[in-house]
Amino acid sequence: MKKILAFAGSNASNSINRKLLEYAADQVRNAEITLIDLREFDAPIYSEELQQTNGFPQNIQQLRRLFDAHDAFMIASPEHNGMMPAFFKNIIDWISRMDGKIFQDKPVFLTSTAPGPGGGRNNLATMRAVVPHWGASAVYADFYLPAFHDAFDAKQNLITDLSEDERLKENVTAFENHLLQELVPA
Ligand SMILES: Cc1cc2nc3c(=O)[nH]c(=O)nc-3n(C[C@H](O)[C@H](O)[C@H](O)COP(=O)(O)O)c2cc1C
Repeated sequence: MKKILAFAGSNASNSINRKLLEYAADQVRNAEITLIDLREFDAPIYSEELQQTNGFPQNIQQLRRLFDAHDAFMIASPEHNGMMPAFFKNIIDWISRMDGKIFQDKPVFLTSTAPGPGGGRNNLATMRAVVPHWGASAVYADFYLPAFHDAFDAKQNLITDLSEDERLKENVTAFENHLLQELVPA
């Protein structure tokens, strides 16, 4: 079975993007999901001097191994001033200095949510543009959820707006079908 690594790009303990991610991951039917909390892989702000002096932090090396061991990624990232949070970008910067492409020619599903009406769509557009440079083989980034607190029931863990719910499920299915049809490299 194909394996998907899923995480939110947030360091908030009550992250709404983590809630959305968990719901999106629940919709996957035919692949195995590993859900991780990126806060467990936090690292000091990247600098070349730090890397040269101390090498890669243990948890960044562990995250790299998790990236290696999975076939695809599902990511829900908050929008901070129009792009991904510095917390998330910093972890990506560390990974990017290790051997190989960040996402290693594997497909990536991206989503975003915010309390406001934008739903993190600026960040989603930013990420859609950059993840091919981060080594994504394919990008599924058509779903964002505006007004999270109105559209998501955090007690029942589901999207209450039925048309949004349908859109999310269509996007997850498209991503999953892509993954299942991918040829396994020889
Ligand atoms: C530094 C900062 C910048 C933010 N910038 C934006 C923004 O550009 N657009 C937006 O919709 N929300 C913005 N927000 C609000 C976030 O969408 C909100 O905090 C959200 O809960 C973050 O997701 P999380 O709970 O998964 O961490 C910002 C919040 C912070 C703390």
